[in-house]
Amino acid sequence: MRILDKNERIINELKKIISEKSNVKAYVHSFGCQLNVSDGEKIKGVLKKIGYSFTENANEADLIILNTCAVRENAEDRVFGIVGSMKHLKDENPNLIIGISGCMTAQNHIVERIKKSYPQVDVVLGTSAINSLPRLLLDCINGRGFAADTEEYADFSEGLEQVRESSFKASVPIMFGCNNFCTYCIVPYVRGRERSRKSDDIIREVKQLVSDGYKEIMLLGQNVNSYGNDLDDEISFPQLLRKLNEISGEFIIRFMSSHPKDATTELLDAIWECEKVAKHLHLPVQSGSNQILSAMNRRYTAENYLEKVEYLRAYDKDFSLTTDIIVGFPNESDDDFEKTLELIRKVKYDNIYSFIYSKRTGTKAAEIDDKISDEKKSERMRRLLEIQREITSESYKRFIGKTLRVLVDGESRKKPGFLTGKSNEFIIVEFEGDSSLIGRFADVKITDAMNWAVAGKLLK
Ligand code: 5AD
Ligand code: SF4
Repeated sequence: MRILDKNERIINELKKIISEKSNVKAYVHSFGCQLNVSDGEKIKGVLKKIGYSFTENANEADLIILNTCAVRENAEDRVFGIVGSMKHLKDENPNLIIGISGCMTAQNHIVERIKKSYPQVDVVLGTSAINSLPRLLLDCINGRGFAADTEEYADFSEGLEQVRESSFKASVPIMFGCNNFCTYCIVPYVRGRERSRKSDDIIREVKQLVSDGYKEIMLLGQNVNSYGNDLDDEISFPQLLRKLNEISGEFIIRFMSSHPKDATTELLDAIWECEKVAKHLHLPVQSGSNQILSAMNRRYTAENYLEKVEYLRAYDKDFSLTTDIIVGFPNESDDDFEKTLELIRKVKYDNIYSFIYSKRTGTKAAEIDDKISDEKKSERMRRLLEIQREITSESYKRFIGKTLRVLVDGESRKKPGFLTGKSNEFIIVEFEGDSSLIGRFADVKITDAMNWAVAGKLLK
């Protein structure tokens, strides 16, 4: 029997069980990157089909799923802390089911630790096993104890219904996994090799989302630039952008992440030429030192990277760039770190996402004997953030007097009567306005620049 037919039968069985109880609630929380959030939306889609309603309060849930991230150790520690603190919920409600899904479950030592030290966990669901969720839940409900599926499936849940977090911003994974093996990174080990979706499926999904009223489409992949390389006769990522750009409707296309080694001029041209593609590029550089870049197996130099920045900035001298930086890669010297500072000053990023290096068991970098102290790493991080804050406040001044098109996200948390949203360039914009604008585009004339956002006046 095909796995999906079998799944339908199990889902029907579960539906019957759930419908006999009243108002059965699930709490699903995703940690980490947007791909994980997207998986969480698919998990919710499966649960909705079974008959669960959703709650934001774990204390009142009958099913809790923690959809985990493994990129850094502190993310894992947080999950263990939360699972530990959920023991009392299980004591109060023995029928409560607690599940762990996502990247942490793809590491054997983690699954072993869960089994040994966290008996309150009933279900472990691997990163490619969302289709197995109904079977695992049924096993659990039928009292078969701990149920786990951490196998990798060839299919990646094409066509699964999603319960989306937003009614106007949608994530669309275009590929899964990564082939790059940056030496610090766990992703290729927990998400497997690159698997691209068919472009026809992606285009169909985006058309549907636009016709359902979604205003922002975020294309996701660990390295979208190698989209299609694993499929015969598939189009390239820049070609995919051009096809999506042809879909009619008022919406914006964003994408994440882009490996600099694969950011070709074909890609940079497509970003500039497609009017629906945001004029912003997130291009993770990780370090400004060629020695560290080589130790990271990034396969580009600071000079190669800067050439790409220059190419984009020849189109627009203010083209908006953001990046990821790792501080304190094993044996990063003061000189290496100064080179990172030099690079961020040259590029003048609008924003950076910086992380202190976290040792990940199983990766190449974890084998290096690191001589740099934690204090030194923290001090570098502090300096990096301070310098970036200065760069951001200086570079945001370029927007004063300009009108930015903003997709309105919601009400400002600090200022009553104010709204916030993201401009095409991925800048946070704050302005006075009515909440009826949420989920719509607004034109805002910028009057002020801060070091985290710009502020302005709504144009009628
Ligand atoms: N330690 C710290 N940061 C990491 N990242 C990936 N792996 C690690 C690690 N082991 C960061 C990189 C990547 C971002 C998503 O997370 O900067 O671009
Ligand atoms: Fe990790 Fe490098 Fe792949 Fe990004 S490109 S997911 S940093 S291995």
